Amino acid sequence: MALANDLRIILATRGALSHLRSIHSSSAASAAQKIKTFEIYRYNPEKPDEKPRMQSYKVDLNTCGPMVLDALIKIKNEMDPTLTFRRSCREGICGSCAMNIGGTNTLACISKIDASNLDRPVKIYPLPHMYVVKDLVPDFTNFYNQYRSIQPWLQRKNEKTEEKGKAQYLQSVDDRSKLDGLYECILCACCSTSCPSYWWNSEKYLGPAVLMQAYRWIIDSRDESTKARLDKLRDPFSVYRCHTIMNCSRTCPKGLNPGKAIAEIKKLLGGLATKDAPGLETAKLHK
Ligand code: SF4
Ligand code: SF4
Ligand code: FES
Repeated sequence: MALANDLRIILATRGALSHLRSIHSSSAASAAQKIKTFEIYRYNPEKPDEKPRMQSYKVDLNTCGPMVLDALIKIKNEMDPTLTFRRSCREGICGSCAMNIGGTNTLACISKIDASNLDRPVKIYPLPHMYVVKDLVPDFTNFYNQYRSIQPWLQRKNEKTEEKGKAQYLQSVDDRSKLDGLYECILCACCSTSCPSYWWNSEKYLGPAVLMQAYRWIIDSRDESTKARLDKLRDPFSVYRCHTIMNCSRTCPKGLNPGKAIAEIKKLLGGLATKDAPGLETAKLHK
């Protein structure tokens, strides 16, 4: 008897569940679609006779994540596997998904899709004034060569004689705080590719992203190549093509201020400022 009662309860529960499921799926089917158009720059290097063009894709925002990168991934997975773009972390850390969205250089993974105006298409281009490898993938060769040129690593006078791994390079709390707002840069190049001076002189002008990293090493209290680093920048192009237009700082998706860092380099180059002595002397530890 008990068994029969249990069976009745199980069957009744199953019936209720399947009824709920059918209500849910029919309401999902009847939910109004929220169609947003994405107009995306396409260029295929394997078809050199075809000019770059814009291609439209319609995405139902009901079945898409909230960010522009979600839409790009959905388009690639469900509509057009040939669409090419870079991405990795999907949380604003790696800098891979930098592109021009709605006229602004930014990161696709932290750009919210504007769902309030479905009539306005989202226009997506690669970062401006870079050579394009394919679709939304720009060629970073020049950018990385410029980054390499500033030697972005700690340099010590007694590099050869200092025994590594025996003692720390000390840094005071104050000295460490001078790196705040600089070390967070993810080298996405949104700033450099928004800079008119960089557009016209990218072979010789280092641009805001690379200059901010140059400054990051110049003012690091543990680094002893300050003079050599500054001397390398002492020419008419490397730094002085910056005309303080400040597009760079306005566009940085991480809220950093490369324009200010460049102004600080100019002060050091012009003798209007000098680097402070380190708050903690570390050299003795390595004798
Ligand atoms: S401040 Fe300098 S680096 Fe920044 S956008 Fe203007 S010219 Fe370019
Ligand atoms: S300063 Fe900002 S915009 Fe420029 S490379 Fe770094 S994170 Fe990107
Ligand atoms: S995917 Fe890494 S920053 Fe967007």
